[in-house]
Amino acid sequence: MFDFEYYAPTRVVFGRGVEARSGQLIKELGVSRVLIHYGGGSVVRSGLLERVSASLDEAGIAHTQLGGVVPNPRLSKVREGVELARQFGAELILAVGGGSVIDSSKAIGYALADPEHDVWDLYDRKRTAIGCFPVACVLTIAAAGSEMSNSSVITNEETGEKRGYRDNKCRLKLAIMNPELTTTLPAYQTAAGCTDIMMHTLERYFTQGGNMELTDQFAEGLLRTVMKNALILRDDPTNYGARAEVMWASSLSHNDLTGLGADGMDFVSHGLEHELGGMFDVTHGAGLSAVWPSWARYVYKDCLPRFVRFARNVMGVEPGMLDEETALTGIAALEDFFRAIRMPVTLKELGIQPTEEQILAMAASCAKGSGGKKGTAKLLYEPDMAAIYRMAL
Ligand code: NZQ
Ligand code: ZN
Repeated sequence: MFDFEYYAPTRVVFGRGVEARSGQLIKELGVSRVLIHYGGGSVVRSGLLERVSASLDEAGIAHTQLGGVVPNPRLSKVREGVELARQFGAELILAVGGGSVIDSSKAIGYALADPEHDVWDLYDRKRTAIGCFPVACVLTIAAAGSEMSNSSVITNEETGEKRGYRDNKCRLKLAIMNPELTTTLPAYQTAAGCTDIMMHTLERYFTQGGNMELTDQFAEGLLRTVMKNALILRDDPTNYGARAEVMWASSLSHNDLTGLGADGMDFVSHGLEHELGGMFDVTHGAGLSAVWPSWARYVYKDCLPRFVRFARNVMGVEPGMLDEETALTGIAALEDFFRAIRMPVTLKELGIQPTEEQILAMAASCAKGSGGKKGTAKLLYEPDMAAIYRMAL
């Protein structure tokens, strides 16, 4: 096991109806003025925004609102939020929504903490954050794991770049998580969310070294649990138990737990997807399932023991085959699972057909965004990234 640091400072309040306690829970953080941030309107239609606002009123917390965050959240909305939060004197940003709203809130938090600099510099790798205003959330979708992660992903619509910035300073103070709130999700978003949850653990699982017995058991258990419950939700979207399992998995899959002691994280599939998101505005989880099988077949020989272990312990591939065959059978089994929850496994199925010029541009941008090379399963460079996009067509 390699040395590690584990930092999970978020207070999680989980269960049926917990959003009714929003006001009191935020008051306990010593905050009296809040910017409520939300997305395209699902929280208005469901009445959640009204319930959360009423809870803040009851606790005597002043609040203002900014909606309109879109999936693949935009830098311009972050700037609007910063202006409003400053005028209002907000002390905390309360994200009522999913990963996109939380990420936009984190970006606002960074900007408020450092008025001297442009917040995009962080995402453009020009500097690191000096602080972040407190952020809390009422989570409405199990997917990105932003409620406990140290990451925020923003799209600069002027340049078409989608970039992530990781820093412990943005970890949420409070995550209010009621699985019932996710029952209004369209089936496609539920499935894309489950895919993203699995990918956050898979990106940590395919490493080159270290014996991480407990971490591996966490990872494999999480992957099996998400697959089982994703299939339940496909057929029974209001199943509370399955919603709850998947929501908790979303947080644990991306708060570092499932990769502790590994020799780094791969995250190439995420890097490739972020380019697709920036150029074609695709749904994050669907973009991931569209590239993962091609990535896996491109790299598996260089990380064979882990692919064999994955095939056996996660996908249930029986012993008796040669290692390479076992690994490929495991990859095909996960591909079949993605199909079973109606996720795309190629770019064509994702609904896009990048030209060779666009493939080269995405590969160049992905390489640039990761300092020229990326990957723990196999270290990949710009030409490798282009090759994977071509395989995924
Ligand atoms: O905007 P509204 O109207 O709320 O609709 C949203 C949106 O269209 C809808 N939705 C959310 N909760 C709902 C609901 N519809 C009905 N009922 C509900 N309860 O779902 C759509 C997707 O929402 P979004 O917030 O975009 O989903 P997700 O949580 O998957 O976030 C995706 C974003 O997070 C980034 C992705 O790249 C993408 O930009 N990621 C963030 C990470 C992080 N910060 O740690 C890690 C991830 O790897 C990921 O990159
Ligand atoms: Zn993700």
